[in-house]
Amino acid sequence: MKNILYIVWSDNNKIGIPIIDEQHRGIISTINSLHYFIQTGHGHEIIKPTMIMLEQYTYVHFKTEEALMAEASYPAFEEHIVLHKALLKKTKDLSIDANRNKDSDMVLKFLKEWWLGHINKEDKKYTPFLRKLIDTKAF
Ligand SMILES: [Fe+2]
Repeated sequence: MKNILYIVWSDNNKIGIPIIDEQHRGIISTINSLHYFIQTGHGHEIIKPTMIMLEQYTYVHFKTEEALMAEASYPAFEEHIVLHKALLKKTKDLSIDANRNKDSDMVLKFLKEWWLGHINKEDKKYTPFLRKLIDTKAF
């Protein structure tokens, strides 16, 4: 096992909204922990709670984004919600199957690609709308 993180966070992944960037890093960090536990041969007693943590963090993060998108009257709100719902369901299924999942490499690859793709493509679309909103706020 190489002594590197599975996903190395880069500032290029930042969208410039502090609370969202912080949560994105938290999600990536959780995926990195999951990778670490799998690679080091930890049992399901730690893999399962990490998947549950990822599912719950995903839920909290999506709620944060969705509230801001709604407040900013983001025009593509509905399309974005569809993507969130699908990923949340998939994460829930992976979490339920955590004890049975044989192909952990595929799960990790899926999570890595989904999150980096979503942050850099879909989330960056709403950025100007949310920036405008938060510039008027105290956070
Ligand atoms: Fe999103």
